[in-house]
Amino acid sequence: MSKITLGIESSCDETGVALYQMGRGLLAHTLHSQIALHSEYGGVVPELASRDHVRHITPLIRQTLNLADLTLPQIDGIAYTQGPGLGGALLVGASVANALARALDIPSIGIHHLEGHLLSPLLADPAPEFPFIALLVSGGHTQLMRVNGIGDYILLGETLDDAAGEAFDKSAKLLGLDYPGGPELAKLATRGTPGKFKLPRPMLNSGDLDFSFSGLKTAVLTLTREQPQDEQTRADIAHATQEAIIDVLAHKARVALAQSGLSQLVVAGGVGANRLLRERLDVEIGKRGGKVFYPAMEFCTDNGAMIAFAGALRLDRHEGDKNYRFNIHPRWPLMDIGLKN
Ligand code: KG4
Ligand code: ZN
Repeated sequence: MSKITLGIESSCDETGVALYQMGRGLLAHTLHSQIALHSEYGGVVPELASRDHVRHITPLIRQTLNLADLTLPQIDGIAYTQGPGLGGALLVGASVANALARALDIPSIGIHHLEGHLLSPLLADPAPEFPFIALLVSGGHTQLMRVNGIGDYILLGETLDDAAGEAFDKSAKLLGLDYPGGPELAKLATRGTPGKFKLPRPMLNSGDLDFSFSGLKTAVLTLTREQPQDEQTRADIAHATQEAIIDVLAHKARVALAQSGLSQLVVAGGVGANRLLRERLDVEIGKRGGKVFYPAMEFCTDNGAMIAFAGALRLDRHEGDKNYRFNIHPRWPLMDIGLKN
């Protein structure tokens, strides 16, 4: 029987649990989102996030086992998000994972959250093959990477200030939309008039693969102050904002592919759920003979499946251990992880 890995994600505002079996795939996954809890504060409140993870993590593990018709002793290893993320939230997942692994006398392994995102399109069918270019666009990160294999990641470019998700969220806030604003802004933008407003495309022609989104946020702020705040104008501004962000992401992804000579682009992270981004990339990359791979919609944002999967791949390489001593890394560059064996 090939090995079964339990994966636990708790780096921010979702508690995710999943079971992955090598050779069979994803057996079950569950998710508890804290969006409702944090929405009245307009953003994630770290202490509330930690407490909510504590409340939900054990019931979710039980529920996931039930869904897969498995019991705890049938698990062969436990993977948890070790960073980056909120310290308290990470500690909840890390301590539950290690306590459970110790009780079951099975290995545990800490996983880099971004590695989880990066490898999540491999869960889909068809899956990309190494090497590929990855566009990682989440609430905290915007990076272009060359992925040669598990643990072999070369950073090609990244944001110098705000992440793409942050640009969506902050602009959405200026338009009076609820947290997290990305999907709300995308929804409002569908009613916007194309070309009504033109916003800057920061660093579009900078000649490198870096990004900058803080200037865009300032431009949105100026526009919202100058323009009347009726529904149509807000939709027009949302449309222009989304266009500007997507233009830059699509352009730089295209350049990264051209420079590397590779043909596969993988898009991961919450902003990868944006439909217009997907459409634009499919057309522009497809036109040049390339192919774009995405995780299933539900695995674009944070989830336990990506952690169970990355954990299964690393446990398969005998990277886990039975020390049960753990630390967490709230800040942790992906380039630092490599392979342990
Ligand atoms: O990967 P993720 O769930 O969490 C982090 O690791 O950051 O990404 C969350 C980000 C948020 O900024 C959210 O607004 C954005 O992804 N997002 C979207 C969409 N869905 C989620 N942004 C634009 N359009 C969407 N449909
Ligand atoms: Zn994430």
